[in-house]
Amino acid sequence: MGIAEDLAALRERGLAQLAAISEAEVLEEWRTRYLGRRGELTQVLRGLGALPPEERPAAGAAGNRAKEALEAAYDDAVERLRRAALAAAIERERVDVTLPGRTPQVGQVHPTTRILREITAIFARMGFDVADGPEVEWDYYNFEALNIPPDHPARDMWDTFYVDAPPSERGAMLLRTHTSPMQIRVMDRYAPPVRVIVPGKVYRYEAISARHESMFYQVEGFAVDRNITMADLKGTLARFARALFGEERRVRFRCDYFPFVEPGAEMAIDCHLCNGAGCRLCSQSGWIEILGAGMIHPKVLQVVGYDPGVYSGFAFGMGPERIAMLKYGIETIRLFYANDLRFLRQLRMLDGAVARADAGGR
Ligand code: PHE
Repeated sequence: MGIAEDLAALRERGLAQLAAISEAEVLEEWRTRYLGRRGELTQVLRGLGALPPEERPAAGAAGNRAKEALEAAYDDAVERLRRAALAAAIERERVDVTLPGRTPQVGQVHPTTRILREITAIFARMGFDVADGPEVEWDYYNFEALNIPPDHPARDMWDTFYVDAPPSERGAMLLRTHTSPMQIRVMDRYAPPVRVIVPGKVYRYEAISARHESMFYQVEGFAVDRNITMADLKGTLARFARALFGEERRVRFRCDYFPFVEPGAEMAIDCHLCNGAGCRLCSQSGWIEILGAGMIHPKVLQVVGYDPGVYSGFAFGMGPERIAMLKYGIETIRLFYANDLRFLRQLRMLDGAVARADAGGR
């Protein structure tokens, strides 16, 4: 067989094989086999030297054409495989943008958190700092330093959970029954003037009912400086009540007793449901009590090393859940911590209702 026939056969076989290749490694083997330095084409072309000189140019030209044809086909195959790999990758990573999305679960701010934010924001605007402190407390801070000595009958005002732990020089360990111990902790640490509010959890050993939980929140507030009077207390708290419940609210102060204030007071707002006429919400009285307050007792100032001859201050404490109940029309405090999502989601709707009622006027 002549070189021309060998070349034609080689070219045909090479092209046929190439067309069937779909993998890069096989393609590389093909290239080595046909176009490599020791490949089949080279072998055939070696035979050129053995030809009679007059036949060489034609055979050489045929060899070049075969080589070019194989190389061009090889380049095409490389491109074909590259496209195929790309198409496969695109298919693999395909995203079906028409699939319905997964709806994210949107949470709600808990009613307690929400009212705490409203309350703290109002006092922050009036220049109060926010502090927090331990829920597990010593008898000293919860009672003694607040002018409630052991065996004082006023202790009955707070049914206490005691912690089974050895007492320290600050007395027994307990769960704080109010946020008032923070008056002592803050004043122990900072020299006057102080203006602080303290939102936090408190605990009472009580039978649970529609109005009582054994854990609930309080917001304590106090201000001590020179020349602070009952007028500052009344002005600050009236401003607060109107900011929270509406500028048209009236406030009422009456005497009350807490061992750590003198005089002591309770503040009520006129009922925002009946506008003071008397209804179920205000037990027909027209008034709703929302907090306890008073001028800080000189003995308390003395305990923290403030001179009561120079400094005076007021303090107040309120129950934010009760305030949220009034503001949002919630009937029982137990809903707050029962983790019932239906209740937690309802606040958004309530918000709308409250806003509509406000807009409609009374
Ligand atoms: N700590 C009191 C209570 O829990 C409330 C209060 C605080 C009263 C500050 C007066 C001043 O009942």
